[in-house]
This record gives sequence, C-alpha cells and structure tokens, in this order.
Amino acid sequence: MLRRLHSEQPESFAFTPANQKWAEAQLTKFPEGRQASAVIPLLWRAQEQEGWVSKPAIEYIADMLGMAYIRVLEVTSFYFMFQMQPTGSVAHVQICGTLSCMICGAEDLIAVCKDKIAAKPHTLSADGKFSWEEVECLGACTNAPMAQIGKDYFEDLTAEGFAQMLDDLAAGKTVVPGPQNGRYAAEPKSGLTSLSEYDSGKTQYNASAQLAIDIGDSVKRIQGDEVPLLTPWVGKDGVVAGRAAADQPPKAPDAPKPVAKQVEEAKKPAPAAKSAPAKAPAAKPAAAAEVAEVEPETLKEARGGLPDDLKLLKGVGPKLEQTLNDLGFFHFDQIAGWGAAEVAWVDSRLKFKGRIERDGWIAQAASLAAGDETDFAKKAKKDGRYDDE
Ligand code: FES
Repeated sequence: MLRRLHSEQPESFAFTPANQKWAEAQLTKFPEGRQASAVIPLLWRAQEQEGWVSKPAIEYIADMLGMAYIRVLEVTSFYFMFQMQPTGSVAHVQICGTLSCMICGAEDLIAVCKDKIAAKPHTLSADGKFSWEEVECLGACTNAPMAQIGKDYFEDLTAEGFAQMLDDLAAGKTVVPGPQNGRYAAEPKSGLTSLSEYDSGKTQYNASAQLAIDIGDSVKRIQGDEVPLLTPWVGKDGVVAGRAAADQPPKAPDAPKPVAKQVEEAKKPAPAAKSAPAKAPAAKPAAAAEVAEVEPETLKEARGGLPDDLKLLKGVGPKLEQTLNDLGFFHFDQIAGWGAAEVAWVDSRLKFKGRIERDGWIAQAASLAAGDETDFAKKAKKDGRYDDE
C-alpha cells in the first residue's frame, strides 16, 4: 500500500493545551540535542487527538523537535500504526487477517466492513463515522477471529455479532470489549481446567473490558486532560530534577481563554493577537460543541463587492475561505462578532472541527477589522504564503 500524504489536509494543527503540556514533558526525557527521539510519542499523541496524522501535524511536530519536515514524514509513512488519512469520527476498525483469524472467519468480518463501512479499506463511511483496515496478527490468536476498535480488542467474533456491534457504536451505545462468546479471557470455552482457585474475586469483565464498561466508552480518544502526565521527574513547577536552570524546558502555554473572553480582548485598542506566539494553541477545540448553536448574521455577497482577504487569518487557506464565503462570511468584522453559540454553528459546518477557537480566529479577525495587523497577516503578506500552502 502506498503511504503518502492524503489529498485533503486540514489548514492547521495544534495540540490541545493539555496535550501540548504532555508533549513538552516528553522532550525532557531526552538529553539536550536529542529531542528528535520523542518523534514517535508525539506523532502518536497527535493521532490520538485527531484520529490521524495530517501534514500540518507532521510540520508542527517537526518544528517542536527541530527536525526537517521530511524526516518526520519518513517516520510517519514507515510505521503502519500511523494513519495518514482521516479515520472514522466514531471508530477506526482494524480486522486481524492473519492465519488463526483467517481460518476462524476474518473474511466474514471484512465482508461486514465492506458492507457497512466502505468497499475499500482506509475510506470513510458515508456518514464519516467509521473506517476500517486489515492488519497483521494482533496477538489474540486464541480468541480468533478478532478486531481492534479504538483501544480495545473484540474477540471470538461472529459476522452477525460484529455487524450489530458496529450498529451499536453508530448509535452511541457502549459495546462490551473482550471475548464475545461468553469467555472471560482466553480460557477454554468449557471453563478453567487449572488455576481455578484464582477464579474468585474477579470483576464482571476482564481487565480493560471492565474499564471500558466502568467509564462507559470503549472507543474514547485521548484529549490529554483525562490522564495524569506520566513524567514524575518534572516537578509541579515544571522544573526537571537534576538539570541546570539554563537547560530547563520552556514553560507550557497558558490555559486557553473562552471565546467570549477572546472577543472581549480582541475589541480592546491593543489586541492580544499582536503578541501571541505563532505556535501557541488558542483554545480547547471541543468547547464549541458544548454550547447550543445560533446562526450568525450572514451576507449574500461581500459589501460593495469587496470581500476581505480571509486567508490573512491564521488557519484559513483558500479552501476554507471559499467555505466561509459560501456560508455568507466575507468580512473580518463578521467573524469578530461571533460569540460561542455562533462559533458552534460555524464549527459544525466545517470539515475539520475546533479550528476557530484553536487558531483564535475571533481575536485575529477583530484586529484585522480594526485596521491592525496580526503577526501572521504580516508574514503572510510578506512571504505571499498562506497557511495551507
Ligand atoms: S492471527 Fe489474529 S490475532 Fe493472531
């Protein structure tokens, strides 16, 4: 299979603030000058966050690690665990097609994927909720045939049970991971024949299957704020034990500001966007989805036939500018006037969610509408380079 950058890419990438903090902490694991060693964990975290590894994510991580873009692309394309195309918003299904699973019915499971998801692997289903691929042995041969969905194994599958499982996931139900034929783990179907004294005191389901049921979600993606930072050598103050002051990692970015606060600040004479660092993530991408949507005021065409160059907003390229125009937005002041409810309305109509807050469009738009220039706009004009080129 050819592994190359997907033909459709998002305009930009940024870690959520929690993931950014986690990523920066990973860099402290390695001696000065060896930060490139963190490339795989950072790529993995980007995939955990977005579902796949996009070109902007590769560039973002390369910039963080001081690596050439091509080197990070090489790592990404070498390891099949990195998805280089969009994956289903609910789940990416990995069907084991190796010997044990093939003998026990993997082809029937693949037929279900072709029927319910897409005829070809690595293709989004019509509703964008699922994608699938065939993978090599996942080490659960005793429970063949099996599939990995999200972080869990679903074992001892039948085609009918698997099809029902996909329907349940699509309906937002929690499916029970692990063996689907009544087995607890990999013991004989007829029950334990040895070590049966260890059979008492166990939970209803085995290990991570129980965890998935406890949290009510077996396909959840990491956003970074739900797990502890596993870097005990970094103190609460961000100082790495045993390192000289000059070698301490840079401070993590400030917590994101809510949309309303961004708007308020953007309307002040000295807008915050002017001094914002180019790579700092702006706001939590999921926030827009938590408020009810309100349709903003739109225009049929640009006032006086003169639209603003929306590509001067960081995160907006030619394709996204066209989308905004199609939705009825042509001017910076329109965007600057959005509140959280309007952001939620627009965000739900964009292909890649969360970028309005993440890239701080409103603060940028308010600056540009007031006749000021953001650092990004200056650079874009100077270089003739826009954000998705
Ligand atoms: S052959 Fe499928 S898990 Fe090993």
